[in-house]
Amino acid sequence: MKKVGKIIADFPLTPESLIPILQEIQEEFNFLSEDSIKKVAAGLSLPLHHVYSVATFYNVFSLKPKGRNIVKVCMGSACHVRGAGRILEEIERSLGIKNGETSADGSFSLETVNCLGACALGPIMVINKKYNGHITPAKVEKIFQEFTSQ
Ligand code: FES
Repeated sequence: MKKVGKIIADFPLTPESLIPILQEIQEEFNFLSEDSIKKVAAGLSLPLHHVYSVATFYNVFSLKPKGRNIVKVCMGSACHVRGAGRILEEIERSLGIKNGETSADGSFSLETVNCLGACALGPIMVINKKYNGHITPAKVEKIFQEFTSQ
């Protein structure tokens, strides 16, 4: 795992690097810790409140730790009409967590999104970066059984 200081050092130390640096930290650690935000502010010589306001403005950033695996369910119109609501319920049942929560063992975080830009494949569930299209409740159960037996 790359250290925050190394991530910052890989970018020009200018205000324009703020979002790319936060994106890379988010990608690496699945969230932005208080410590990492302080390091970014210091590294780019930006006020701490400015870095916090950017980190809280974009919903791609999370200030809370997330699970090792991020599960996203598309609830956009095209997926919704094809049963995304039932898919979400099945995932919540399979993982034992509600939308927006992280499992107690830190394995999974569950989120909904509005459109993943692949409407023809709906309904869609994404685990980490892997798209699972034309998903059904039965497929959800099978995917998580395989996932947890790995
Ligand atoms: S509505 Fe789900 S991918 Fe577009």
